[in-house]
Amino acid sequence: MEAKMQHYKEKYRPQFHFTPKEKWMNDPNGMVFYKGEYHLFYQYHPFGTKWGPMHWGHAISRDLVHWEHQNIALAPDEHGMIFSGSAVVDWNDTSGFFNGKPGLVAVFTHADTYPGTDRPRQRQSLAYSLDEGRTWIKYKENPVLADEEITDFRDPKVFWHHDTGRWIMVLAAGQSIHIYSSPNLKDWSFESAFGEGEGAHYGVWECPDLFELEAGDEKKWVMLVSLGDHPDVAYGSRTQYFIGEFDGKVFVSEADGADVRWLDEGKDNYAGVSWSDVESNRRIYMGWMSNWRYANDIPTKPWRSSMTLPRELVLERVCGEYKLFQKPIASLEGLREELFSLQDSLHVPAEYPLAGIHGASLEIVAEFEYEDHAEFGLKVRKSAEEETVIGYDAGRQELFIDRSRSGESDFSSSFASRDAGRIVSGDNRLKLQLFVDASSVEVFANNGELAMTSLIFPDPGSDTLELYSAGGKAVLLSLKIYTVNSIW
Ligand code: FRU
Repeated sequence: MEAKMQHYKEKYRPQFHFTPKEKWMNDPNGMVFYKGEYHLFYQYHPFGTKWGPMHWGHAISRDLVHWEHQNIALAPDEHGMIFSGSAVVDWNDTSGFFNGKPGLVAVFTHADTYPGTDRPRQRQSLAYSLDEGRTWIKYKENPVLADEEITDFRDPKVFWHHDTGRWIMVLAAGQSIHIYSSPNLKDWSFESAFGEGEGAHYGVWECPDLFELEAGDEKKWVMLVSLGDHPDVAYGSRTQYFIGEFDGKVFVSEADGADVRWLDEGKDNYAGVSWSDVESNRRIYMGWMSNWRYANDIPTKPWRSSMTLPRELVLERVCGEYKLFQKPIASLEGLREELFSLQDSLHVPAEYPLAGIHGASLEIVAEFEYEDHAEFGLKVRKSAEEETVIGYDAGRQELFIDRSRSGESDFSSSFASRDAGRIVSGDNRLKLQLFVDASSVEVFANNGELAMTSLIFPDPGSDTLELYSAGGKAVLLSLKIYTVNSIW
């Protein structure tokens, strides 16, 4: 009993991000909304705190903020481990699993090796649930899709395409995304491949997603593609996106081939995809808050890895071009407890208002006005020895997170870094919404135009805040600080 009560109080344990009680987790899987419940499955190794034989762990939420852990949904079997994949509501029982009623179907990768060799074999399989996701039955005729030529062949994300009245699957296939269609989730036909000459290719392509979003009066399709780690690249594993058109067969990106658009400019947002079947066509995304470069070595126990905050994805026009914006979902506001509110604007840091404010679990909403060459921002999780700097360098037009002195970092030489992303503000103003948890910071700039997600491992006692500026004037126009209550 006592040991149980210690859960969620451990050093570095996120207080408002999803983590398994214990053991290893990676990618979010099978995200689907059904009968008032958001399901989150995840790559899970129930017997260790490093990556190992993959299962699907499972949790359910009604608000995407508070989670209830469920039993393991899928375990390895004669076809191998259970790699990443998705889940859908089969509203019209196209699969025939549900006796004419709606039900949940999971589409995932079975991973083993070709008989008598150690060459990886990855094939797509189905499971269905007759009890609203509580337990899962694997389809007898698994696998349903295989390809003997392509070794990396995984992470099916499936959705119903209204215009053509068929299921569509996007699947990572080596350095491209394959698109398949099916009337019944069981029989799949190849439609097209996307990726050659498009975007970044330094690592293997993984975990695709494809969905439609409103773009002013029109609609556009967005494809997410995660890119595996490569030793020559400082960032490690990362996620890119493409905006374009999809006609039910072929996805065409609008970008110049060589253009790369990163979903996140921090280091720790990988393998994320969106929830299926969410009401009002909202597109809600969640990523794995880690990086393959050091994921197996981060200093947490008895669990390893956490998810990002859920974010709503929307397209907004910036300088004549659509960009994918990420907005932390509104239901997080329910966790707020106001700690500080600035009454009048002030020069940073001449009058110093934050002395005496402590917090390791915070949401900070601020707006700055700045001179052209100023650098300014906030230091969080601060003590004499440690600080994480979230700053804007107006000269370079760069938002950055500097975690080089953030706390424990000796588990990987890649960890202590300063990471930056470009964001241009026409009116010399910058809005920041910032979430600080026990072992992470997430920054959303200018209403979600730029997102940065980074792990940090500060001492629990490093809990003060500081405003700073250098090289030019910065004025704080507004500031609110909230304590974020624990979800556990
Ligand atoms: C991405 C990934 C997926 C794979 C899973 C295995 O992080 O490599 O491509 O299905 O992890 O756990």
